[in-house]
Amino acid sequence: MLTNLAQQPADALLALIKLHNADPRANKIDLGVGVYRTEEGATPVFAAIKAAEAKLVQQQDSKAYLGPEGDMGFVTALMPYVFGAANPTMDGRIEGMQAPGGTGALRLAFAVAKRAGVKRYWMGTPSWPNHAQILADLGLELKTFNHATKAGTVDMPALRAAIAEAGEGDAILLHGCCHNPTGIDYTPADWDEIAALVAAKKLLPILDLAYQGLGKGMEEDAYGLRRVLAAVPEALVAYSCDKNFGLYRDRVGAFYLMLADPAGLGAAMSNAHALARASWSQPPDHGAAAVRLILADAGLTAQWLAELDTMRERMRQVRAKLGAAGKAGTADLSPMGSQNGLFSITPLTPEQVLAIREKHGIYMAGSGRINVAGLTMANIDQFIAAVADVTG
Ligand SMILES: Cc1ncc(COP(=O)(O)O)c(C=O)c1O
Repeated sequence: MLTNLAQQPADALLALIKLHNADPRANKIDLGVGVYRTEEGATPVFAAIKAAEAKLVQQQDSKAYLGPEGDMGFVTALMPYVFGAANPTMDGRIEGMQAPGGTGALRLAFAVAKRAGVKRYWMGTPSWPNHAQILADLGLELKTFNHATKAGTVDMPALRAAIAEAGEGDAILLHGCCHNPTGIDYTPADWDEIAALVAAKKLLPILDLAYQGLGKGMEEDAYGLRRVLAAVPEALVAYSCDKNFGLYRDRVGAFYLMLADPAGLGAAMSNAHALARASWSQPPDHGAAAVRLILADAGLTAQWLAELDTMRERMRQVRAKLGAAGKAGTADLSPMGSQNGLFSITPLTPEQVLAIREKHGIYMAGSGRINVAGLTMANIDQFIAAVADVTG
């Protein structure tokens, strides 16, 4: 039976890493996989995490099971950052649990919504490819609408039309900030409108916040999520700490569920616990415990936030330079200046993406998506000149 299984396509980005590693050119540039990089091209462990890990090794006296909800100290400590310090539980209406990364939290969110009877899921495209893959794996129906215009703004008419077509009891997935892959986020005014539209249509919002602090700032990046939650009776949130704490392979995430009446939270969350138990049983502990130790210590929290500021500031500088470059050949790079987070889409065709790789050693996804953090003050001129060469 097992030999009947058909070959599946390799993950395109992981294949790109291999190609990049095998390229002997000294001036090659990796703009593929989505991890933050320093000006030196490294993805280091945060100093705040290193300090918390040292504390953890010293203090941890057991590795006994915690249960499917994982480290609830971590889950609770994160809530003021996500939902606001003024009312982090929304009057007791929100409860959460730990999940293996943002991916695990998204999988739980989609599966809990399915159990609750959600019929269809709406999502702007392009999106992070795994959204559609998880929905397909769970056998759920996905309806898509266009996320962004060619001019580099959010396609609000497409979003309005999708919500108008959606039926009560459908779910809508929204990227909280730093849209992957376009970098094109909703403005606060857009969020105000979206919150009202989602509430009026009685859709279930599923908010994916995977890059808080890497766009405009911790508070600014939570604006949309908080605006939607304030407008609706029920919502699901998938949160990732893998980028904003640099914990990628440690798989640190959280799932939150909001209800109109706190009395129902226990029953609703028991479904999320049961789904987790049946898939990964319990989330990995280490990274979440390190985050908890950071958030429990004012000095480590300040250090973490300062490291995050440095990362965001570096990406802003790269974006400012791309924006100022304007046209490179026929490619207009100026919209990238005002986009957010790690990603942007260049207007390169698949043939031009191949040409820039072969001729210039610059590796980017076939869609033309680049990881902005792969650019540095040392290689950005080379990148702009290469774009001009392959599009000119
Ligand atoms: C939009 C979006 N959501 C969720 C995730 C999942 O992140 P994690 O690595 O924590 O599973 C990613 C990761 O790339 C992402 O881009």
